[in-house]
Amino acid sequence: MDTERMIKSAEKVCAAFPAFRPKLALVMGSGWREVANGFTVKHSLDYADIPGLGAPQVAGHGGQLLLAQQGGVELLIFSGRRHGYEGAGWDPIAFPVCLAKTMGAQGLVLTNSAGGINPRFRAGAVMIIDDHINLMGTNPLIGPHHAFWGPRFPDMTGVYDADYRRQLDEAGKRAGVPLEHGVYLAVTGPSYETPAEIGAFRGMGADAVGMSTVPEAILARAAGLKVAGISCITNAAAGFGQTLSHEDVLAGAKAAIPGLTRLLKEFVEEV
Ligand code: HPA
Repeated sequence: MDTERMIKSAEKVCAAFPAFRPKLALVMGSGWREVANGFTVKHSLDYADIPGLGAPQVAGHGGQLLLAQQGGVELLIFSGRRHGYEGAGWDPIAFPVCLAKTMGAQGLVLTNSAGGINPRFRAGAVMIIDDHINLMGTNPLIGPHHAFWGPRFPDMTGVYDADYRRQLDEAGKRAGVPLEHGVYLAVTGPSYETPAEIGAFRGMGADAVGMSTVPEAILARAAGLKVAGISCITNAAAGFGQTLSHEDVLAGAKAAIPGLTRLLKEFVEEV
């Protein structure tokens, strides 16, 4: 990871918008892009024009940095997520965390689409991430230590901030969106899991599975940002009788967009 290059790039974005003071940064995962339409956008930048970030390679992931506002709160919205399976290294994944910290945001909201492992979860369920299991077989902090990311061996107890989780529950009640809670397990993808893998993950205590979020959560926690994680359960994970496709995942998220938009608006005004 080239942290110095990322910091320089982040400082350029800050310098271009000196009056902008985001309280929160939000990363919109697969299928969540439309949720960003619920906020008032003041400026937008293409990822392709931001060194260290660059354009995502996956349909449904977009690629715009939005400087937005909701109820007097300024927000940095990453509309489109970069994933490890693109093979572009950690920089595009770490950059949103780097920019959020450089701009002085207090917290980072990580959203994603995920497969439901908990048999209680139906497609369309919304799960607040209480904790995670990193089965990516790697870690974004591997490499020379840089003080920007906090201590060499950062603590990962309580990655997902307890106040944010409570505030999400309250936001869900006001928004009329029922919420689940659970453990998110991350794999690299891009292949979906086998039924045997999902059986093993269930035994490990996972409620949902996906290909993102954990690297950003590790980095943000290490760097001293508060973290919230929200999964839209777009499908039952492998082994529940159906095959999986990216199109089905995007379609699963689409139905949930109005509820997700209400939830995030309420949350953003609460924090
Ligand atoms: N597995 C992994 N990632 C996913 C899934 C899944 O079933 N659904 C959405 N993202």
